[in-house]
This record gives sequence, C-alpha cells and structure tokens, in this order.
Amino acid sequence: MLDGKKLYQSLSVFGSLSLALTIPWIVFKVCRAVCLKRNYHALMRKVVVITGASSGLGEALAHEFYKQGCQVVLCARRRQELERVRSDLLRTHPTVPTIPPIIQPLDLSDINSLPSHVEKILAITGRIDILINNGGVSHRGSVIATQPDVDIKIMLVNYFGAVALTKAVLPNMIKNQSGQVVFVSSIQGLVALPERSAYCASKHALQAFSDSLRAEVAAHNISVTVVSPGYIKTELSRNALTGSGAKHGEMDKTTESGYLPEYVASEIGRAVVQKKKEIVVCTFLPRIAIFLRKYLPSVYFSVMVKRAKKAQLK
Ligand SMILES: *[C@@H]1O[C@H](CO)[C@@H](O)[C@H](O)[C@H]1NC(C)=O
Ligand SMILES: *[C@@H]1O[C@H](CO)[C@@H](O)[C@H](O)[C@H]1NC(C)=O
Repeated sequence: MLDGKKLYQSLSVFGSLSLALTIPWIVFKVCRAVCLKRNYHALMRKVVVITGASSGLGEALAHEFYKQGCQVVLCARRRQELERVRSDLLRTHPTVPTIPPIIQPLDLSDINSLPSHVEKILAITGRIDILINNGGVSHRGSVIATQPDVDIKIMLVNYFGAVALTKAVLPNMIKNQSGQVVFVSSIQGLVALPERSAYCASKHALQAFSDSLRAEVAAHNISVTVVSPGYIKTELSRNALTGSGAKHGEMDKTTESGYLPEYVASEIGRAVVQKKKEIVVCTFLPRIAIFLRKYLPSVYFSVMVKRAKKAQLK
C-alpha cells in the first residue's frame, strides 16, 4: 500500500518533470517550424542560378527552388536537356505561384565566356540572389594512369569554372549588399579516396576557396554555403572521366545505392534558407572516415591503402 503510494508519487514527479521538459521542447519545435516556414517564404521571387541543371542533383535543385516560388535560371551545356527540365518544371508544379524558368546554356570549362553569360542573365532578371555552383564531373583511375589533360579538365570544370562564375556574379551581389553563394562539394572534398585523385583534389580546392570567400564577403551581407553530400543516385559515375579522358560508362554500386537527388536537394534548400555555412549530407560510414582523417589519420591512411589494393585487383 505504502509502496504503491510511493510509486504513485515518484511517477507523478517523473510525469511533471518530463512535462516541464516536453513543453519547452514542443514550443521550440513549433517556433522553429514557423521560423523555417517564414524563411522559406523569403525565397519567393528570388533569382536562383543553378549550374549542372540538366540532370541529377542540379535538376532536383531546379525543382526544389522552383516550387518555393524562385525564378530559377538553368545552366548546363546541353540546351535540349535544359529545355526538357524547363518543361518538366512547368508541368509538374502547376498549382504553385511560380515564375517561368530561364535557360542559359553555358560550358563551365570555357571560363572566359562566363562573364558574358552572367550579363545575359542579368539583362533578363536584373539581379542574382542565389548562385548554386553544382555542375561538375568525376574521375575514375589511378594517378599513374591518368593523363595530365584529364586532371586539368576536371579541375577546370569543378574548380575554375565555379570560381570564375562566382567572380562574375559577385559584383551584382555586392552592389545589392545581399546574396548567397552555394558550392556543391562532396564528402570527397573532406576525405580523399584512391582512384579519384582529380575529383577529390578539385573538391578540396573548392572547400578552401569557399572558406576564404565566406570571410571576405561577410561584410557585404553575402553568405557562403558549402554542401558535402555522400553518394547520390545520379549519372555522376557514368559520366566520370577515366584516365584516358573517356567516359567511365558504368553506374557504381555505391552510386546506385546512394541518396535520391530529391532528398539532397531538399537538404540544400533548407541549408540555404537557414544560411548554413556548411552541411554534410551522408550516412554513418563517411562520417567515420571524416573523423578518422582528422583525429586518427594513421588509421585512415591504412584503410585507404587496403581500398587502393582492392581497386587495383579489379
Ligand atoms: C536586392 O536583394 C533583395 C533581396 O534579395 C531583392 O529583393 C532586391 O530586389 C535586390 N535589388 C536589386 C536592385 O538587386
Ligand atoms: C542582408 O540580406 C538579406 C537578404 O539576403 C536582406 O533581407 C537584408 O536586409 C540584408 N541586410 C542588410 C544589412 O543589408
């Protein structure tokens, strides 16, 4: 009887304690959701330039920002594919109040042409609020088997292309004292893998560039977001350049079982809304790799040696 009473008392203490914790937690969650919704609303009518918009993550990003009411500017090499994405956008979200997308074919590796493409965009939209540097190409092959031309090509598209485009867009953002630049890097911008030297190097370079840029443009009210996703189910591995510069042509198993581009695009959307400085979108294993590289490098080095051996045996 006494025990029952004690039990009841401790239960009610426990109950009110957890209530005292739960209510603020719920309030916090609700506030955050309201805030996020308001911030998403702020995306309305923003001009968002997306590179690599003809497929994969870029295409998913186009849908993500278009359905938030942004004016998306789709950039990639293939005009026909951009037109397909544009008509998909117009068809898929007919109920949301949207602004028709614009297409601007461009080749990131032709860095000297990029300023004139930006001028063309500005002539139509008047401003660029958000630039998403997403376009890129991957690499498959050992260092020794990779032609220096391939290293240069990959660096040119993934790194110099993004750098040149950003430089072309920045003056407009500075003039307006507002703007956001997003760089789609990769887990491989944080930890390097064997047989991917050129890709990893280009993404590491992007990370460093972004950190410098972020500090410099903060005074102009411009924010810089770096996104490091793990494997995404796209054509990236199929289109990866091999040592000779040919296309890899296969969908890797890791890519096949990767995240859906729509998921990564919505994570990027949220990071933009919250003006996050960096986000890492990945599963447990890559997180361990990042941790090991930083805090237990010798373990990371020996795991990578094994991985390289396995790749060479194939
Ligand atoms: C400046 O940026 C704000 C916020 O994105 C935008 O609403 C406004 O139209 C921009 N103005 C100019 C002149 O670029
Ligand atoms: C900074 O930019 C945001 C939009 O990105 C704008 O709403 C805000 O007014 C700007 N702040 C200043 C101080 O210009």
